[in-house]
Amino acid sequence: MEAPVIHEFDAVIVGAGGAGLYAALELARQGVPTAVLSKLYPTRSHTGAAQGGICAALGNQEEDHWEWHMFDTVKGGDYLVDQDAAEILTREAIETVIELEHLGLPFNRTDDGRIDQRRFGGHTRNFGEAPVKRACYAADRTGHMILQTLYQQCIKHGVRFFDEYHVVDLLIEDGVSRGVVGYRLADGALHVFRSKSVLLATGGFGRMFRITSNAHTLTGDGAALAYRRGVPLEDMEFYQFHPTGLAGLGVLLSEAARGEGGILLNGKGERFMERYAPTLMDLAPRDIVSRAMTREIREGRGIDGKDYLFLDVHHLGRAVIDEKLPDITDFARVYQGVEPYTQPVGVQPTAHYAMGGVPTDVAARVVVDEQNTALPGLYAAGECACVSVHGANRLGTNSLLDILVFGRRAGRDMARFSKESGMPDLPADPAEPVHAELQALGARREGEPPARIRRELADVMMDDVGVFRTDGTLRHAQGVVRDLRDRYQGVRVQDSGARFNQDLLEAREVGYLLDCAETTVAAALARQESRGAHYREDFPERDDPNWLKHSLAYRADGGPALRYKPVTITRFTPKPRVY
Ligand code: FUM
Repeated sequence: MEAPVIHEFDAVIVGAGGAGLYAALELARQGVPTAVLSKLYPTRSHTGAAQGGICAALGNQEEDHWEWHMFDTVKGGDYLVDQDAAEILTREAIETVIELEHLGLPFNRTDDGRIDQRRFGGHTRNFGEAPVKRACYAADRTGHMILQTLYQQCIKHGVRFFDEYHVVDLLIEDGVSRGVVGYRLADGALHVFRSKSVLLATGGFGRMFRITSNAHTLTGDGAALAYRRGVPLEDMEFYQFHPTGLAGLGVLLSEAARGEGGILLNGKGERFMERYAPTLMDLAPRDIVSRAMTREIREGRGIDGKDYLFLDVHHLGRAVIDEKLPDITDFARVYQGVEPYTQPVGVQPTAHYAMGGVPTDVAARVVVDEQNTALPGLYAAGECACVSVHGANRLGTNSLLDILVFGRRAGRDMARFSKESGMPDLPADPAEPVHAELQALGARREGEPPARIRRELADVMMDDVGVFRTDGTLRHAQGVVRDLRDRYQGVRVQDSGARFNQDLLEAREVGYLLDCAETTVAAALARQESRGAHYREDFPERDDPNWLKHSLAYRADGGPALRYKPVTITRFTPKPRVY
């Protein structure tokens, strides 16, 4: 094999979404030599697809307190949230949003010039009384604005970017992180990044489902690579469906539409959420709304009996639509040919967000067991991580907050760690194991295309591991995923060249998705209760005595091995969830 190019940085960040960029900015501000590897040009990262807002109890529109925000987060997560982390999230929300404003983010404004705020699902005043305006926003492009703001700041502070580098291996030896191996898309060269600390900020894995709001690149790369190197994956059974994906496509139509007063209607023209969540109605948490929608569809009350419902915003008027919901109403025009000024838009639940992922502590350090033992030098933040502030179900606008609060915390702790530590030795032949894998994959001349496996995986996950699950559907999915994994051993890539070989990398991405799917199914099959986004029709109740605990899925021969660790409860004891 040709010798890999070797780089040395005190800190390496994998992924250039909000978590990665905020960590990089923090490191750069502290003078730590930092590299960011991204498989995309950074401003194309999936943070840019987050639309409706980032929440913080600023109280600019209505009275609000971080304790109310914390309560909503814990209750919304069906009490699986680690409350020490939720307290940090909601307290630090306020300074984080104000810092973003100072970094230049163009928020919408109140008449007196403060950051405007709007309603979002599950966010309430006074511990559940009624919806509160807590989401700070830039029209329906909040994530896009965060990405642009942070990227510009990183450039200003001298962060080194390695664009279109896929990370293909993590260098972990003797329980210590030593860097990563990257694959440069332009020419297929392997690059070794030796580093004191590594942050995984690679996003989620929604592409394991057929209907999803996630970009094509959301294939669980960081989570799967960590899993392959012995790190467990936490709470993988909890996967969120966002209620309003564009029917048939899954493209996100922000919850901000309902926050501004939009409503959901079934095929009989009924505002059906009145029956499922009498107080919050359309602004109940996403697990509740997605289940209600799926029930309406299953019971034949979809539009014309089909598998979608209507989101109606026409009564908001043109001025509100144009000022506050310009992008999503354009999506409806472009993709569905409907005019939201006058017509309802077809929507259906869409796979949106992984509550589970790589376990971390509140400093974003990756932890590997029930005692939260940290793996020195390895960090994770954003959707690929599980800290766990979202528990069994995330509230809308808490994800942009999570990526920023814990991305910044990661940057701070990496800076501390990098200043205290020497540069670790590299393993012998650090790129050889992944080089051998890539060679074997690229050299195979017979076999089926990985795209077929990806499609079948997305179908079975959607049909059997979606909004509703049973022992039967999960066992069926488990068998199919095992079979796909066997078939994956024999896939063939068509492109045998070195330049921009997307074919090769997409084949690897299918492997990551299989790891994520396998752990999701195993943890869902084991959890015999319903909690948040994990709804078992054969176990419809939450079961705190037996299941108030986090799952940890470890890679093992014959499939994932499951262990469990306790939930941290500080202020709010678990109660039934009523909205
Ligand atoms: O609906 C939305 O705008 C999505 C926000 C989120 O997932 O936090």
